[in-house]
Amino acid sequence: MIIAIDGPAASGKGTLAKRLAEHLGFHCLDTGLLYRAVARDVAWLGFRLDDTWAAVAVARGLDPRELEDPDLRGTAAGDAASIVARIPEVRAALLAYQRDFARRPPGAVLDGRDIGTVVCPGADVKIFVTATPEVRARRRFAEFEARGAGVAYETVLSDILVRDARDAGRPNAPMMVAPDAMLLETSNLSIEAAFDAAVGLIKRKISHPGRS
Ligand code: CDP
Repeated sequence: MIIAIDGPAASGKGTLAKRLAEHLGFHCLDTGLLYRAVARDVAWLGFRLDDTWAAVAVARGLDPRELEDPDLRGTAAGDAASIVARIPEVRAALLAYQRDFARRPPGAVLDGRDIGTVVCPGADVKIFVTATPEVRARRRFAEFEARGAGVAYETVLSDILVRDARDAGRPNAPMMVAPDAMLLETSNLSIEAAFDAAVGLIKRKISHPGRS
């Protein structure tokens, strides 16, 4: 069984995906980390982030087991990720790993931007998680504060807006709601309430597979 969770920056999809995977005993893949790691390594090698040749070479050689680096979670890493993520060959190079991961038994939860549309268009359940940019910025800001990262709220908000525009506006695999995805608006929901709502959506989908 495959559960696809997509949504804009800091929408809470990662937290939700992890909780769902734990609850169901499924594997979980935060696909954003793949793009973040590619960007980190391209920069580390001294290339520009929009250098297609370098980014593709890094993406092809990426070891997806090495995604534990805490620096990957920062704002700079997210912004850099969205630049390499625009390169179609980078996306293509990361596709087979994501699809293989999705097929791991007994099931997998993947979160990202194009899981329900490109990576796993046949996913059993697709949820698109949203919240207003201000709510998302407040949540991400709180995460950074808890980790002691000195980033201003305004910086977090503007990063989110820039990234959303870049991700939705790219021609290849743009962030969009899959036609058969179920929307989960979490602006007024706690993590717990969002989790309960997602479980409800999954149950509904499984008992009425044709409906979205
Ligand atoms: O956690 P957050 O929502 O802030 O970002 P993320 O999911 O780690 O994704 C970082 C960036 O990677 C996004 O802004 C996208 O540009 C890119 N990405 C993508 O293009 N496709 C995916 N499936 C996942 C991430």
